[in-house]
Amino acid sequence: MSLTPAPSTDENIERAAGHLRAGRLVAFPTETVYGLGADARNGEAVAEIFAAKGRPAFNPLIIHVPDVETARTWAELGALAERLAAAFWPGGLTMVLNKRVGGELSELVSAGLPSIAVRVPAHPVALSLLRKANCPVAAPSANRSGHVSATTAAHVAADLDAAALAMILDDGPCAFGVESTIIDARGDAVQLLRPGAVTIEALAKVAGTVVKGASASSHGAMARSSPGQLESHYAPAKPLMMNVTQPRPDQALLAFGALPEGYAGEVYNLSPSGNLTEAAANLFAGLRRLDETTVKSIAAMPVPMDGLGLAINDRLKRAAAPRS
Ligand code: TXA
Ligand code: MG
Repeated sequence: MSLTPAPSTDENIERAAGHLRAGRLVAFPTETVYGLGADARNGEAVAEIFAAKGRPAFNPLIIHVPDVETARTWAELGALAERLAAAFWPGGLTMVLNKRVGGELSELVSAGLPSIAVRVPAHPVALSLLRKANCPVAAPSANRSGHVSATTAAHVAADLDAAALAMILDDGPCAFGVESTIIDARGDAVQLLRPGAVTIEALAKVAGTVVKGASASSHGAMARSSPGQLESHYAPAKPLMMNVTQPRPDQALLAFGALPEGYAGEVYNLSPSGNLTEAAANLFAGLRRLDETTVKSIAAMPVPMDGLGLAINDRLKRAAAPRS
Protein backbone atom coordinates (compact mmCIF):
# COMPACT_ATOMS: atom_id res chain seq x y z
CA MET A 1 0.00 0.00 0.00
CA SER A 2 1.28 3.45 -0.83
CA LEU A 3 0.49 6.64 1.05
CA THR A 4 -1.88 9.10 -0.66
CA PRO A 5 -0.13 12.49 -1.01
CA ALA A 6 -1.85 15.40 0.76
CA PRO A 7 -2.39 18.69 -1.07
CA SER A 8 -0.20 21.46 0.34
CA THR A 9 -2.92 23.49 2.07
CA ASP A 10 -2.03 25.56 5.15
CA GLU A 11 -3.92 23.07 7.28
CA ASN A 12 -1.94 20.11 5.89
CA ILE A 13 1.37 21.97 6.28
CA GLU A 14 0.42 22.61 9.91
CA ARG A 15 -0.30 18.90 10.38
CA ALA A 16 2.99 17.98 8.71
CA ALA A 17 4.86 20.34 11.05
CA GLY A 18 3.19 18.61 14.00
CA HIS A 19 4.36 15.21 12.70
CA LEU A 20 7.96 16.49 12.43
CA ARG A 21 7.87 17.83 15.98
CA ALA A 22 6.49 14.47 17.14
CA GLY A 23 9.51 12.67 15.67
CA ARG A 24 7.81 11.33 12.54
CA LEU A 25 8.91 11.56 8.90
CA VAL A 26 7.33 13.88 6.33
CA ALA A 27 8.08 14.07 2.60
CA PHE A 28 7.91 17.64 1.29
CA PRO A 29 8.54 19.50 -1.96
CA THR A 30 11.55 21.73 -2.54
CA GLU A 31 12.44 23.50 -5.78
CA THR A 32 15.17 20.88 -6.47
CA VAL A 33 13.68 17.49 -5.49
CA TYR A 34 11.29 16.14 -2.82
CA GLY A 35 12.93 15.71 0.58
CA LEU A 36 12.30 13.07 3.26
CA GLY A 37 12.41 15.12 6.44
CA ALA A 38 12.90 14.52 10.16
CA ASP A 39 13.63 16.75 13.16
CA ALA A 40 17.44 16.94 13.03
CA ARG A 41 17.64 17.09 16.83
CA ASN A 42 15.90 13.73 17.18
CA GLY A 43 18.37 10.87 16.58
CA GLU A 44 15.76 8.14 16.35
CA ALA A 45 13.71 10.13 13.83
CA VAL A 46 16.87 10.67 11.77
CA ALA A 47 17.63 6.92 11.99
CA GLU A 48 14.16 6.24 10.57
CA ILE A 49 15.15 8.21 7.44
CA PHE A 50 17.88 5.65 6.70
CA ALA A 51 15.48 2.78 7.42
CA ALA A 52 12.81 4.27 5.12
CA LYS A 53 15.32 4.73 2.29
CA GLY A 54 16.61 1.18 2.73
CA ARG A 55 20.07 2.66 2.82
CA PRO A 56 22.79 0.16 3.84
CA ALA A 57 25.19 2.96 4.87
CA PHE A 58 25.04 6.24 6.82
CA ASN A 59 25.72 9.30 4.66
CA PRO A 60 25.71 12.73 6.23
CA LEU A 61 22.45 14.64 5.58
CA ILE A 62 21.56 18.24 4.72
CA ILE A 63 19.67 20.30 7.31
CA HIS A 64 16.99 22.61 5.95
CA VAL A 65 16.22 25.92 7.67
CA PRO A 66 13.88 28.80 6.72
CA ASP A 67 16.42 31.65 6.68
CA VAL A 68 20.05 32.64 7.17
CA GLU A 69 19.48 33.76 10.79
CA THR A 70 18.38 30.23 11.68
CA ALA A 71 21.33 28.80 9.73
CA ARG A 72 23.65 30.86 11.96
CA THR A 73 22.26 29.19 15.08
CA TRP A 74 23.39 25.73 13.85
CA ALA A 75 26.50 26.51 11.80
CA GLU A 76 29.35 29.01 11.63
CA LEU A 77 29.13 31.21 8.57
CA GLY A 78 32.42 32.87 7.67
CA ALA A 79 32.73 35.88 5.37
CA LEU A 80 32.61 33.73 2.22
CA ALA A 81 29.58 31.77 3.42
CA GLU A 82 27.76 35.00 4.33
CA ARG A 83 28.31 36.38 0.83
CA LEU A 84 27.10 33.15 -0.77
CA ALA A 85 24.07 33.00 1.52
CA ALA A 86 23.13 36.57 0.59
CA ALA A 87 23.42 35.70 -3.11
CA PHE A 88 21.90 32.20 -3.26
CA TRP A 89 19.55 31.65 -0.30
CA PRO A 90 16.78 30.77 -0.51
CA GLY A 91 17.83 28.49 -3.35
CA GLY A 92 19.55 25.40 -4.66
CA LEU A 93 22.85 25.83 -2.84
CA THR A 94 23.94 23.64 0.08
CA MET A 95 26.94 24.78 2.11
CA VAL A 96 29.11 22.52 4.24
CA LEU A 97 30.06 24.60 7.29
CA ASN A 98 31.52 24.11 10.74
CA LYS A 99 28.86 22.89 13.14
CA ARG A 100 28.26 25.18 16.11
CA VAL A 101 29.53 23.54 19.26
CA GLY A 102 26.95 22.91 21.93
CA GLY A 103 24.12 22.69 19.42
CA GLU A 104 21.55 19.96 19.84
CA LEU A 105 21.78 18.34 16.40
CA SER A 106 21.86 14.54 16.38
CA GLU A 107 25.37 13.23 15.57
CA LEU A 108 23.73 10.92 13.03
CA VAL A 109 22.76 13.90 10.83
CA SER A 110 26.38 14.66 10.00
CA ALA A 111 27.52 11.02 10.44
CA GLY A 112 29.81 12.07 13.26
CA LEU A 113 31.56 14.87 11.36
CA PRO A 114 32.33 18.26 12.89
CA SER A 115 30.78 19.86 9.78
CA ILE A 116 27.14 20.27 8.80
CA ALA A 117 25.52 20.74 5.39
CA VAL A 118 22.90 23.54 5.41
CA ARG A 119 20.37 24.79 2.88
CA VAL A 120 17.53 27.33 2.75
CA PRO A 121 15.20 25.96 0.05
CA ALA A 122 13.33 28.36 -2.27
CA HIS A 123 9.92 26.73 -2.17
CA PRO A 124 6.94 28.36 -0.42
CA VAL A 125 5.64 25.04 0.94
CA ALA A 126 9.08 23.99 2.24
CA LEU A 127 9.63 27.40 3.85
CA SER A 128 6.18 27.40 5.44
CA LEU A 129 6.75 23.88 6.79
CA LEU A 130 10.17 24.82 8.22
CA ARG A 131 8.74 27.91 9.94
CA LYS A 132 5.79 26.05 11.40
CA ALA A 133 7.90 23.08 12.55
CA ASN A 134 10.41 25.47 14.11
CA CYS A 135 13.19 22.86 14.09
CA PRO A 136 16.10 22.09 11.73
CA VAL A 137 14.89 19.44 9.27
CA ALA A 138 17.34 16.78 8.10
CA ALA A 139 16.30 15.60 4.64
CA PRO A 140 17.86 13.51 1.91
CA SER A 141 16.06 13.08 -1.41
CA ALA A 142 12.79 11.17 -0.86
CA ASN A 143 13.64 8.07 -2.87
CA ARG A 144 14.68 4.52 -2.06
CA SER A 145 18.42 4.06 -1.91
CA GLY A 146 19.82 3.48 -5.42
CA HIS A 147 16.77 4.97 -7.17
CA VAL A 148 16.66 8.38 -8.82
CA SER A 149 15.60 11.38 -6.73
CA ALA A 150 11.83 11.85 -6.54
CA THR A 151 10.54 14.98 -8.29
CA THR A 152 6.79 14.45 -7.78
CA ALA A 153 4.71 13.38 -4.79
CA ALA A 154 3.56 10.34 -6.77
CA HIS A 155 7.22 9.23 -7.18
CA VAL A 156 7.66 9.49 -3.42
CA ALA A 157 4.51 7.46 -2.77
CA ALA A 158 5.57 4.78 -5.25
CA ASP A 159 9.12 4.55 -3.89
CA LEU A 160 8.72 4.65 -0.10
CA ASP A 161 6.78 2.37 2.20
CA ALA A 162 3.55 3.92 3.52
CA ALA A 163 4.29 2.71 7.04
CA ALA A 164 7.58 4.60 7.12
CA LEU A 165 6.24 8.12 6.80
CA ALA A 166 3.44 10.14 8.35
CA MET A 167 2.66 12.31 5.35
CA ILE A 168 3.61 13.33 1.81
CA LEU A 169 2.95 17.01 1.08
CA ASP A 170 2.06 17.38 -2.60
CA ASP A 171 2.82 20.57 -4.48
CA GLY A 172 3.24 19.20 -7.98
CA PRO A 173 6.49 18.60 -9.85
CA CYS A 174 9.75 20.26 -8.68
CA ALA A 175 10.83 23.25 -10.78
CA PHE A 176 14.50 22.17 -11.10
CA GLY A 177 14.35 18.40 -10.83
CA VAL A 178 18.06 18.16 -9.98
CA GLU A 179 19.54 18.24 -6.49
CA SER A 180 21.18 21.27 -4.92
CA THR A 181 24.79 22.18 -5.62
CA ILE A 182 26.94 21.26 -2.62
CA ILE A 183 30.02 23.26 -1.73
CA ASP A 184 32.45 23.34 1.15
CA ALA A 185 32.35 27.00 2.22
CA ARG A 186 34.59 26.81 5.29
CA GLY A 187 37.80 28.06 3.74
CA ASP A 188 38.68 31.10 1.65
CA ALA A 189 37.71 29.46 -1.66
CA VAL A 190 34.63 27.48 -2.63
CA GLN A 191 35.20 23.74 -3.01
CA LEU A 192 32.64 22.05 -5.22
CA LEU A 193 31.49 18.74 -3.71
CA ARG A 194 28.46 18.04 -5.94
CA PRO A 195 27.30 19.92 -9.04
CA GLY A 196 23.59 20.75 -9.05
CA ALA A 197 20.95 23.45 -9.39
CA VAL A 198 23.31 26.43 -8.96
CA THR A 199 25.95 26.63 -11.72
CA ILE A 200 29.70 26.92 -11.19
CA GLU A 201 29.64 30.13 -13.26
CA ALA A 202 27.08 31.70 -10.93
CA LEU A 203 29.14 30.64 -7.89
CA ALA A 204 32.34 32.02 -9.42
CA LYS A 205 30.72 35.44 -9.94
CA VAL A 206 30.15 35.74 -6.21
CA ALA A 207 33.04 33.71 -4.81
CA GLY A 208 35.82 34.13 -7.33
CA THR A 209 37.67 30.83 -7.55
CA VAL A 210 35.76 27.55 -7.39
CA VAL A 211 37.96 24.54 -6.72
CA LYS A 212 36.48 21.41 -8.25
CA GLY A 213 36.18 17.89 -7.03
CA ALA A 214 38.18 17.30 -3.91
CA SER A 215 35.95 16.42 -1.01
CA ALA A 216 39.00 15.39 1.03
CA SER A 217 40.18 18.35 3.06
CA SER A 218 42.45 19.40 5.85
CA HIS A 219 39.62 20.35 8.21
CA GLY A 220 38.66 18.74 11.46
CA ALA A 221 39.03 15.40 13.13
CA MET A 222 39.22 13.23 10.03
CA ALA A 223 42.42 14.77 8.72
CA ARG A 224 43.97 14.28 12.12
CA SER A 225 42.92 10.67 12.56
CA SER A 226 43.32 9.29 9.06
CA PRO A 227 44.95 11.55 6.52
CA GLY A 228 43.92 11.05 2.93
CA GLN A 229 40.51 9.64 3.79
CA LEU A 230 37.44 11.48 2.53
CA GLU A 231 36.15 13.82 5.17
CA SER A 232 32.59 12.71 4.52
CA HIS A 233 33.40 9.52 6.44
CA TYR A 234 34.07 9.81 10.14
CA ALA A 235 35.97 6.96 11.74
CA PRO A 236 37.38 6.76 15.26
CA ALA A 237 41.14 7.21 15.64
CA LYS A 238 41.44 4.10 17.82
CA PRO A 239 41.51 0.66 16.21
CA LEU A 240 38.15 -1.10 16.35
CA MET A 241 37.32 -4.80 16.44
CA MET A 242 33.91 -6.07 15.39
CA ASN A 243 31.72 -8.89 16.71
CA VAL A 244 33.52 -9.13 20.04
CA THR A 245 31.73 -11.09 22.75
CA GLN A 246 34.61 -11.24 25.27
CA PRO A 247 36.36 -7.82 25.36
CA ARG A 248 39.83 -7.54 26.89
CA PRO A 249 40.36 -5.24 29.88
CA ASP A 250 42.36 -2.78 27.75
CA GLN A 251 39.47 -2.33 25.31
CA ALA A 252 36.51 0.02 25.54
CA LEU A 253 33.24 -1.70 24.76
CA LEU A 254 30.72 -0.46 22.21
CA ALA A 255 27.85 -2.56 23.48
CA PHE A 256 24.56 -3.65 21.96
CA GLY A 257 22.00 -5.35 24.21
CA ALA A 258 22.99 -7.05 27.48
CA LEU A 259 26.62 -6.59 28.58
CA PRO A 260 28.95 -9.63 28.74
CA GLU A 261 28.84 -11.18 32.19
CA GLY A 262 31.21 -9.58 34.68
CA TYR A 263 32.44 -6.88 32.28
CA ALA A 264 33.55 -3.84 34.29
CA GLY A 265 35.54 -1.79 31.78
CA GLU A 266 34.78 1.38 29.87
CA VAL A 267 31.47 0.99 28.03
CA TYR A 268 29.02 2.82 25.79
CA ASN A 269 25.81 0.91 25.17
CA LEU A 270 24.22 1.71 21.79
CA SER A 271 20.95 0.18 22.97
CA PRO A 272 20.61 -1.80 26.21
CA SER A 273 17.31 -3.23 24.92
CA GLY A 274 18.81 -4.25 21.55
CA ASN A 275 16.78 -1.75 19.50
CA LEU A 276 18.41 -1.00 16.12
CA THR A 277 16.81 2.44 15.68
CA GLU A 278 18.11 3.54 19.07
CA ALA A 279 21.51 2.02 18.28
CA ALA A 280 21.73 3.89 14.96
CA ALA A 281 20.81 7.15 16.68
CA ASN A 282 23.62 6.63 19.22
CA LEU A 283 26.30 5.19 16.93
CA PHE A 284 28.43 8.27 16.17
CA ALA A 285 28.09 9.75 19.64
CA GLY A 286 29.19 6.37 21.04
CA LEU A 287 32.22 6.06 18.76
CA ARG A 288 33.28 9.58 19.66
CA ARG A 289 32.82 8.99 23.40
CA LEU A 290 34.95 5.82 23.37
CA ASP A 291 37.53 7.46 21.12
CA GLU A 292 38.03 10.07 23.84
CA THR A 293 38.83 7.50 26.55
CA THR A 294 42.40 6.45 27.41
CA VAL A 295 42.00 2.80 26.40
CA LYS A 296 43.95 1.52 23.37
CA SER A 297 41.17 0.08 21.24
CA ILE A 298 37.43 -0.31 20.85
CA ALA A 299 35.62 -3.65 20.87
CA ALA A 300 32.18 -3.64 19.26
CA MET A 301 29.65 -6.30 20.21
CA PRO A 302 27.77 -8.09 17.39
CA VAL A 303 24.91 -6.14 15.84
CA PRO A 304 22.33 -8.16 13.85
CA MET A 305 22.45 -7.76 10.07
CA ASP A 306 18.88 -6.69 9.43
CA GLY A 307 17.17 -3.33 8.93
CA LEU A 308 19.38 -0.52 10.24
CA GLY A 309 21.87 -3.18 11.38
CA LEU A 310 23.26 -3.21 7.83
CA ALA A 311 24.20 0.47 7.99
CA ILE A 312 25.55 0.13 11.54
CA ASN A 313 27.73 -2.82 10.53
CA ASP A 314 28.86 -0.98 7.40
CA ARG A 315 30.15 1.87 9.52
CA LEU A 316 31.80 -0.46 12.05
CA LYS A 317 33.45 -2.35 9.18
CA ARG A 318 34.97 0.86 7.80
CA ALA A 319 36.16 1.78 11.28
CA ALA A 320 37.67 -1.70 11.66
CA ALA A 321 39.49 -1.64 8.32
CA PRO A 322 43.29 -1.34 8.55
CA ARG A 323 44.51 2.25 8.09
CA SER A 324 47.53 3.08 6.02
O1 TXA B 1 18.45 19.18 -3.47
C1 TXA B 1 18.91 18.56 -2.51
O2 TXA B 1 20.07 18.75 -2.09
C2 TXA B 1 17.99 17.55 -1.83
C3 TXA B 1 16.86 18.31 -1.17
C4 TXA B 1 15.90 17.43 -0.42
O3 TXA B 1 17.38 19.32 -0.31
N1 TXA B 1 18.71 16.75 -0.87
C5 TXA B 1 19.64 15.82 -1.21
O4 TXA B 1 20.17 15.13 -0.14
O5 TXA B 1 19.97 15.61 -2.37
P1 TXA B 1 21.01 13.77 -0.26
O6 TXA B 1 21.09 13.20 1.11
O7 TXA B 1 20.43 12.88 -1.30
O8 TXA B 1 22.45 14.25 -0.66
C6 TXA B 1 23.20 14.99 0.28
C7 TXA B 1 24.69 14.91 -0.01
C8 TXA B 1 25.28 13.56 0.25
O9 TXA B 1 25.98 13.12 -0.89
C9 TXA B 1 26.23 13.79 1.41
O10 TXA B 1 27.37 13.00 1.33
C10 TXA B 1 26.55 15.28 1.31
O11 TXA B 1 25.36 15.84 0.84
N2 TXA B 1 26.85 15.85 2.64
C11 TXA B 1 25.98 16.09 3.64
N3 TXA B 1 26.61 16.58 4.73
C12 TXA B 1 27.92 16.66 4.41
C13 TXA B 1 29.10 17.07 5.13
N4 TXA B 1 29.03 17.50 6.39
N5 TXA B 1 30.27 17.01 4.48
C14 TXA B 1 30.35 16.58 3.19
N6 TXA B 1 29.29 16.15 2.48
C15 TXA B 1 28.08 16.19 3.07
MG1 MG C 1 19.95 11.42 -2.86
